[in-house]
Amino acid sequence: MIPLPVLPFAPGDLEPAMSRDTLSFHFSRHHIDHYERTLALARHFGLADRALEDLVRESRGSRRLAALHRHAAEACNHDCFWRSMRIGGGGPPRGAIAVAIDERFGDYRRFVRRFTGAAASVFGNGWLWLTWYGGRLRIVATRGCETPLVRGHTILLALDLWEHAYYLDHQNRRAAYIRVFLEELVDWEAADAMLGGCLAVAA
Ligand SMILES: [Fe+2]
Repeated sequence: MIPLPVLPFAPGDLEPAMSRDTLSFHFSRHHIDHYERTLALARHFGLADRALEDLVRESRGSRRLAALHRHAAEACNHDCFWRSMRIGGGGPPRGAIAVAIDERFGDYRRFVRRFTGAAASVFGNGWLWLTWYGGRLRIVATRGCETPLVRGHTILLALDLWEHAYYLDHQNRRAAYIRVFLEELVDWEAADAMLGGCLAVAA
């Protein structure tokens, strides 16, 4: 079954970094719409017993299930996005994720440059991810609803690059939105916990 999406904070809790209007429109109009369409299509195709992530994987590449795939992926992507932010978040990471970033990118400053540069490479709507795959961190940029989940990546952070995610607050200035995400919103503790799970499995 696909549970009703839940925001891990109230719509005004991330102000001023992310406005109440941006968050409430984004959640109640976009995310909930993807959830409701996913549910309706899953029922139509007799797949309503599946977990959301399984629906995303199983519908990938199917012409018959293309609409289901798009909405399920976007519902799943938004779940990841809300979990990537917290009240009072932002700033450099600590713990195992900080060590992994230093090992992979040199230092946090270089990571920020790579992350921001990757976001700029997405023309139009898409997503930016920090994942764990093949024993190392990856920065992955995807277009539309695409998610690296279907290629076996574990998602540590998700950043919504669709214009609806930032237009009310930043208009077309995507770089400003990404800077605020990294400096005031990102939940490194959640990413660290996800990475901890990956490292425990690998040990
Ligand atoms: Fe979105």
